Amino acid sequence: MKKVVLVYSGGLDTSICIPMMKEEYGYDSVVTVTVDVGQPASDIAEAAEKAKIMGTEHYTVDAKDEFVKDYCFKALQANALYQGYPISTSIARPLISAKAVEVAKKLGANAFAHGCTGKGNDQFRIEFGIYALLPGSTIHAPIREKNLTRVWEIEYAQKKGVPIKQSLEKIWSIDENVWGRSIEGGRLEEPNFAPPEEIFQWTKSPKNASNDGAEVLIEFEKGIPVGINGKKMGALEIVQSLNKIAGDNGVGRIDIMEDRMLGLKVRENYECPAAMTLLTAHQALENLVLTRQEIKFKHLVDQEWTNMAYEGLWWDPLKDNLEAFIASTQKRVTGTVRLNLYKGSMQVSGRESPWALYNADLASFDTQTFDQRESTGMVKIFGMQSKMYHSLKSKM
Ligand code: ARG
Repeated sequence: MKKVVLVYSGGLDTSICIPMMKEEYGYDSVVTVTVDVGQPASDIAEAAEKAKIMGTEHYTVDAKDEFVKDYCFKALQANALYQGYPISTSIARPLISAKAVEVAKKLGANAFAHGCTGKGNDQFRIEFGIYALLPGSTIHAPIREKNLTRVWEIEYAQKKGVPIKQSLEKIWSIDENVWGRSIEGGRLEEPNFAPPEEIFQWTKSPKNASNDGAEVLIEFEKGIPVGINGKKMGALEIVQSLNKIAGDNGVGRIDIMEDRMLGLKVRENYECPAAMTLLTAHQALENLVLTRQEIKFKHLVDQEWTNMAYEGLWWDPLKDNLEAFIASTQKRVTGTVRLNLYKGSMQVSGRESPWALYNADLASFDTQTFDQRESTGMVKIFGMQSKMYHSLKSKM
């Protein structure tokens, strides 16, 4: 029995892989693995339903809590934004590979298939994960290997009786998890095509958002969000409720040109209400408690971490080393941040922490504890070499 484990979302690309694995790749049986990272429950159910129709051995793995705690919150601590995108799809891929590998190991299989195209980043993330966690695996990528287009895929699906939602008009490719929702494809690929309202599901348009806005208090302990508006909550619950609160206020829409790993510039639309809110609050708190030196250096570490996560190098030892540094900075990132959300905008309006490096007595206009006269010497010699340069220049 030749068995292949298919990393399965229930979408178009992965669904056509089921008949393909049998007819084109010669497998006797296909095992489908759908990992729940917080996509809508209806998608999970639909994937299972389709798998049943197409006669695969199907596994649904609930990884929502693990995803939030070990993936989203690591990205949060690293202030992870790649070109303005909170890498929501990127960080789910390593976990999805890990779960597929777990199923394969249980079944004694080591052949895999996935539905990534040869143009995107996901092929790197999924395959790196599988090779790292189960060396010697065989991985098939039919969309890439056969150079398929989505139009061809839709026709193939219709011919093979594969149930799909896409039509030649509604061709959006959507990837969803609790950290964000990404929408691409169809006319959205045109950089100058304004995203139609119908692509958004988590965020109201600023026009239709509430007239009152919302004030949100986010509480952190050691760089981890632990409560909202004075109420303690679990990790997943925090992210889910912020998706609702911020989404209702039109916060979290992102429309960017993204530089993919292969060098392609691609237009991407995202909805990431909770991620954007938490990232804003977390950074505001770091700016209150970390020293200027820590902030400057951490920025470099954060960027390196974000790039590695974007590129799917999740199990590279350098990433662990960067995380060790990040973790040591987070010990003091405890406190509360207040945000105002209003019709698509988000503003920090307050922050407090027992670790605040702020001393009212020193910084205020109204006190004399910091003797201003002490600054005179430093002001005089600051920028000494630059001043020398200007005096030389004026003589030349
Ligand atoms: N460009 C993003 C990334 O590389 C998201 C890709 C999302 N995929 C999708 N089918 N919408 O992380």
